[in-house]
Amino acid sequence: MESVRRSSAVVAALLLVCVSMVRAEDPYLFFEWNVTYGTISPLGVPQQGILINGQFPGPKINCTSNNNIVVNVFNNLDEPFLLTWNGVQQRKNSWQDGTPGTMCPIMPGTNFTYRFQVKDQIGSYYYFPTTGLHKASGAIGALQVHSRLLIPVPFDEPADEFAVLMGDWYTKGHKTLKKLLDSGRSLRRPDGIQINGKSGKVGDNDQPLVTMEAGKTYRYRVCNVGLKTSLNFRIQGHTLKLVELEGSHTVQNVYDSLDVHVGQCMSVLVTANQEPKDYYMVASSRFTRSRLLAVATIRYANGKGPASTDLPAPPPETAVGIAWSINQFRSFRWNLTASAARPNPQGSYHYGNINITRTIKLVNSRARVDGKVRYTINGVSHTDAPTPLKLAEYYGAQDKVFKYDTIKDAPEAGAKPQVLTNVINGTFRNFVEIILENPEKTIQTYHLDGYSFFAVGMEPGKWSPDKRKNYNLVDAVSRYSIQVYPGSWTAIMTTLDNAGMWNLRSEMWENAYLGQQLYVSVLSPARSLRDEYNLPDNTPLCGIIKDLPKPPPYSI
Ligand SMILES: *[C@@H]1O[C@H](CO)[C@@H](O)[C@H](O)[C@H]1NC(C)=O
Ligand SMILES: *[C@@H]1O[C@H](CO)[C@@H](O)[C@H](O)[C@H]1NC(C)=O
Ligand SMILES: *[C@@H]1O[C@H](CO)[C@@H](O)[C@H](O)[C@H]1NC(C)=O
Ligand SMILES: *[C@@H]1O[C@H](CO)[C@@H](O)[C@H](O)[C@H]1NC(C)=O
Ligand SMILES: *[C@@H]1O[C@H](CO)[C@@H](O)[C@H](O)[C@H]1NC(C)=O
Ligand SMILES: *[C@@H]1O[C@H](CO)[C@@H](O)[C@H](O)[C@H]1NC(C)=O
Repeated sequence: MESVRRSSAVVAALLLVCVSMVRAEDPYLFFEWNVTYGTISPLGVPQQGILINGQFPGPKINCTSNNNIVVNVFNNLDEPFLLTWNGVQQRKNSWQDGTPGTMCPIMPGTNFTYRFQVKDQIGSYYYFPTTGLHKASGAIGALQVHSRLLIPVPFDEPADEFAVLMGDWYTKGHKTLKKLLDSGRSLRRPDGIQINGKSGKVGDNDQPLVTMEAGKTYRYRVCNVGLKTSLNFRIQGHTLKLVELEGSHTVQNVYDSLDVHVGQCMSVLVTANQEPKDYYMVASSRFTRSRLLAVATIRYANGKGPASTDLPAPPPETAVGIAWSINQFRSFRWNLTASAARPNPQGSYHYGNINITRTIKLVNSRARVDGKVRYTINGVSHTDAPTPLKLAEYYGAQDKVFKYDTIKDAPEAGAKPQVLTNVINGTFRNFVEIILENPEKTIQTYHLDGYSFFAVGMEPGKWSPDKRKNYNLVDAVSRYSIQVYPGSWTAIMTTLDNAGMWNLRSEMWENAYLGQQLYVSVLSPARSLRDEYNLPDNTPLCGIIKDLPKPPPYSI
């Protein structure tokens, strides 16, 4: 007990030193982005894509913890547009979250400047468009947050780092795909897999994606930016040392291959310790009827010879494959002694000792409403309102836009599926347990904006309270997304300490677009700047609040 108290005093002293060191205003990074249509060929077939400054993938945001990021986005598409910053917590700042529940879209021919801070975060993230099916056509890019200079990183500085943005891909454009879903049909099977905008085939002698020097170690930041397909990532002849997962430093286990589910990012270290020649990195689909696959070339500087056409074997599929993948999830552990964005070790936050104040069980399903396919959570299929929910709440007009808590904290048997705007009333600072149960035959990934959470348990079957005795209450990884296997459940825990309106969504974009998402409203009753920033002056207004008088700003 005494030593615990002493070490937390040391931590507090360290924190004080740190706060006084960074008192000076944190640096600003400015970006100007022009969003346009343009021709791209991720699968070798020319098609209309969405580019940022002429690029797909879009420009990388490379920054350091606590940097202020300013991105002026010019929408030169013919449709309203919004970007979200997947995994960036937007502390006190859901105004910039870029979901239709928090912001009016950027109208064609106009621009909007996002201003946010990557406060107390490190690690690997990505941005993508939340409007319509734009995500199927581009405007996706990497956002990586480095540790501040004085905060120790639990591995030697790599020689270089590479962003690998991989995902399933359709050769049909976003408008065609949207029409399919609007008419009640499904997206069906993707046409292929792309890695950083290309879909390499075995035997191609393409330009390398990356070049490594023999003997050096590199950091690969790998994200699955696709619409629905889990991917397995592996590299011929090389192992992957996992060092970071969705903003946390992990215990550094070594893997032959890693499952990366939709919306997830992880960092692996790869050492160039093989014969100097070309090697393939492989991204192949998981849990799909037929396997889709893409490769990209890794070259050794001054190496000789093409990559072998023998690809490393994928992990097993079906039930055995799910067990394999769950085991891999369980092997991901928080490194309790490593620092992340702050100097105190990650393990000084004892989430396992906090009492749960609310348990919310969310069960996903597929339903038909008026003859059309909809995806639901506890029987409700979300539909966006013409007025962003956050703005409606801020202007005191929420009663005209949505009702809180139409879904209960557990699904009700026999309830008829409904389409409506789905908002959970979260209580500021509550420690909540969310059970995600997936009775379907397809895999799910969920993402929660505004927070990271501890993924404490995952098993096949149905959840019941006695499953809590198997939870990992010590070193579960704090992260921003989590998969739920077919016929399985996953439990997550978090403290609702970030005031705002936060999107909890299926990362399967077809499901989310057709209603499998909701918002968690976390209101601070104080209306104080301590808890939430003021509505930014440049916020576009729309819907019923457009002509309402502006509420008084928050006070200290
Ligand atoms: C954005 O791109 C469009 C189309 O290429 C071009 O007409 C426009 O001048 C660009 N705008 C800016 C601000 O760069
Ligand atoms: C990215 O940021 C880090 C830390 O701020 C810096 O060391 C590195 O050189 C940057 N990389 C690029 C490509 O700008
Ligand atoms: C649009 O861009 C201009 C600069 O080109 C900037 O002054 C203005 O604030 C931007 N508009 C918004 C709403 O951010
Ligand atoms: C955890 O982080 C510590 C502190 O940086 C480091 O020394 C250690 O090697 C890491 N442990 C594992 C198992 O990765
Ligand atoms: C948690 O709940 C238990 C049992 O109700 C109680 O004894 C304990 O004091 C609580 N702990 C905290 C940190 O509130
Ligand atoms: C939301 O929850 C808070 C705290 O539990 C409560 O005070 C408030 O009345 C609730 N609001 C609505 C509209 O249900």
